[in-house]
Amino acid sequence: HRHLLGIEGLSADEITRLLDLSQSYAERPKDDHRARSLLSGRTVMNLFFENSTRTLTSFELAAKRLGADVINMAVSTSSIKKGETLLDTAMTLNAMGPDVLIVRHPESGAVSLLSQKVDGAVVNAGDGRHEHPTQALLDALTIRRRRGRIQGLIVAICGDVLHSRVARSNIHLLTKLGAKVRVIAPTTLLPSQIDKMGVEVFTDMRKGLKDADVVMMLRLQLERMQGAYVPSIREYFHFYGLDYDKLEIAKPDAIIMHPGPMNRGVEIDSELADDINRSVIREQVEMGVAVRMACLDALTRDLTGANT
Ligand code: CP
Repeated sequence: HRHLLGIEGLSADEITRLLDLSQSYAERPKDDHRARSLLSGRTVMNLFFENSTRTLTSFELAAKRLGADVINMAVSTSSIKKGETLLDTAMTLNAMGPDVLIVRHPESGAVSLLSQKVDGAVVNAGDGRHEHPTQALLDALTIRRRRGRIQGLIVAICGDVLHSRVARSNIHLLTKLGAKVRVIAPTTLLPSQIDKMGVEVFTDMRKGLKDADVVMMLRLQLERMQGAYVPSIREYFHFYGLDYDKLEIAKPDAIIMHPGPMNRGVEIDSELADDINRSVIREQVEMGVAVRMACLDALTRDLTGANT
């Protein structure tokens, strides 16, 4: 079986095919009957070991729109609370024969490990700081719809890059499709391997934002900063928060993105986040459903060629 574990192992062609299929789903009416029967008789299980609003809901909606039977296993009321391990849980669910398992886990690599033990296709819905492939695909689809292309665009990814699987998946995807990717962060929030990722690194936001076409803000992941450097919120917003003043440095028509959930007033000014002339955050969420329909479609038809 094929899985979707990350963007890193996909080729530019495979990514483009998934984006084209996602776009075709974005254009279809919600009640399209052909789409409804595509996964009829198939079972999709959501297994989330970490909280989610957008990813879980949109995978459920996507699977239902394709006619699948969908199970959301609530980890907090499952036998994991009695000490059953990740792999025993996976094997238990596997015995019920799901066609697709969608998994989120706080440990990098846990989803890949699980994929080696089950018979169905596995989709990584976010593993630790490693990858969140469907988020990068929905971000790319949003950029493509707003800008018509990805090749040659300057994309500035700003904030807590160190803890961000969204940043990592986006860096892989955007560099493969020929964007010029910049990361902007304090040195304490940059991963040590960042200079091997094909991006330009800035610690001064006013320099990094110059002429950017896309400004992608990241959530400050305070829950992952046990004992490490935790900046004061006021200081962080002053240097790395996006507001109208700093946005002036980017291109006049630059779009603002955020994967959500946002910390308003920490990494992004609250008014700017809601500014429909600049912010495409709502469209990102909307594209999430189309992208997840495309991924479920491709995986169950074995079209991705992805086994990463
Ligand atoms: N962007 C994202 O993954 O959001 P959730 O954590 O709400 O799924």
